[in-house]
Amino acid sequence: MTAKVPESTADGAICVLNPAFLWLRHDEESVGFFQTSLQSVPVRRFSRRETEILDCLATGMVQNEIVEKLDITPSELAKFLESLNFWGKDVVRWRHPAGSQAAMHQKRLRQAARLRDMATAMTATVDANDIFHKTRLTEGNRQFDQIETTISHMFREPHIALDNRSYGEAFCDWLVANGRLKSPCRVIEIGCGLGFFANAIMDRLQMRYPDLYEGLSYTLFDLSPELQSAQKSNCGGHVEKTHFVSGNIESHDFGDQQFDLVLSNEVIADLNVATVSLDNVQRGSPQTDAETVVHRYRLNCVPITQGNKKMAVINFGAIKMLENIAKCLAKNGYAVVTEYGTRKRSPKAVKLTNHYEYTIHFGQLEQVSQHLGFQSDHGTMGDVIGFSANCETIHMKTLRTLSTCLIPYLGREALPVLAYTPASLEAALGDIIARIGNLRFLRLDDRASFSPFRFELLSLSSGSANTRIA
Ligand SMILES: C[S@@+](CC[C@H](N)C(=O)[O-])C[C@H]1O[C@@H](n2cnc3c(N)ncnc32)[C@H](O)[C@@H]1O
Repeated sequence: MTAKVPESTADGAICVLNPAFLWLRHDEESVGFFQTSLQSVPVRRFSRRETEILDCLATGMVQNEIVEKLDITPSELAKFLESLNFWGKDVVRWRHPAGSQAAMHQKRLRQAARLRDMATAMTATVDANDIFHKTRLTEGNRQFDQIETTISHMFREPHIALDNRSYGEAFCDWLVANGRLKSPCRVIEIGCGLGFFANAIMDRLQMRYPDLYEGLSYTLFDLSPELQSAQKSNCGGHVEKTHFVSGNIESHDFGDQQFDLVLSNEVIADLNVATVSLDNVQRGSPQTDAETVVHRYRLNCVPITQGNKKMAVINFGAIKMLENIAKCLAKNGYAVVTEYGTRKRSPKAVKLTNHYEYTIHFGQLEQVSQHLGFQSDHGTMGDVIGFSANCETIHMKTLRTLSTCLIPYLGREALPVLAYTPASLEAALGDIIARIGNLRFLRLDDRASFSPFRFELLSLSSGSANTRIA
């Protein structure tokens, strides 16, 4: 929804620019760019005077200060801010003081959006994930650079936030330090993307822990033929260690195959969700497989009232994956599952350009894990893997506009999509960086950041008992 410029800023509303909005200064004018996750928009030119206003806004100056500094009238400023919504998008936002009517209205809008996303999750179809990954995902690199960028993709190069290790390398060190990767070790990774994570783990073992590498067998399991071919190529240095299996983790039958370590990094948001009737469950008469699961594991669900019915959405695919892990995990084995989510909120839909994903209710996954006989442990991915919280990295929206609009406009070589710090972006772009307005960086523990501290890491151990479901 387009943000209207308030007629009066008497409540102290502060104008904030969208981090997806950048401009490139030339001598007499500047060129503006804005990119949303769903569409590209045309460029717009700003006069030198307008650029001065933008530069003031980018430093966090409030309207009164700008009016004074640039000697313009409040209505001229308001008119210019209104004109920024030329793109029909949320280029300008208003932050109202806590407790003001406008702030409460914004809060209600956010709650309504959350309810809408929960309702969208209720309309999910069971074969959407399968169809998308088997037939519609045709450009692997673009998928991860521009559409479903993962933490592991952003941190695939050594990064200062991880003591100059890549995410895969830091993850590997954590597995080894915590005794989860021993020799011999049969590893299976479920949902491997472009294969960078697997390759980083294998490279790290080969370089740092050769005894563990010696006893390693690494299976890459995936639903997408396109991604599996990228995995084969990106893990080409480890042909003797790798096996590739195609399948859907929600239904794949591993037969007698056993693994000592199961990894699933940022995958389960792709898996199916299901809507259940809590009335059926509470009556003790589940009617569907998903309702049976809620009943069997006595899941704490977040009720959604529809008329006089009580419904709920569950991460059914993720639960089926845990059941599958319980069948193929060897005694004294471990499984590690990471994803974006919370411990108790209902799954909701997240719309990406070419498919939907669903946030994870990790509290339910822990309940399931306990019923399956696992010992479980959890934390945020940031804390467990050891990201430094105060490291500043580029705002995801800023990066998208930079890499998909501004860099191509300059005719420069593509900018790899990475978690740039101010220093590493300057190293990548050189002097041009001083001409770009509104470059935004956030600390990794900032709630607005695309942050590993907003992802959960669930760690399961099977122990020595045989605790398998039928
Ligand atoms: C968001 S990507 C994550 C990739 C990688 N692990 C990373 O961290 O960048 C999800 C991966 O899971 C795979 N995937 C999605 N649904 C799956 C399913 N039902 N069974 C097996 N793999 C699946 C996708 O093809 C993709 O490789």
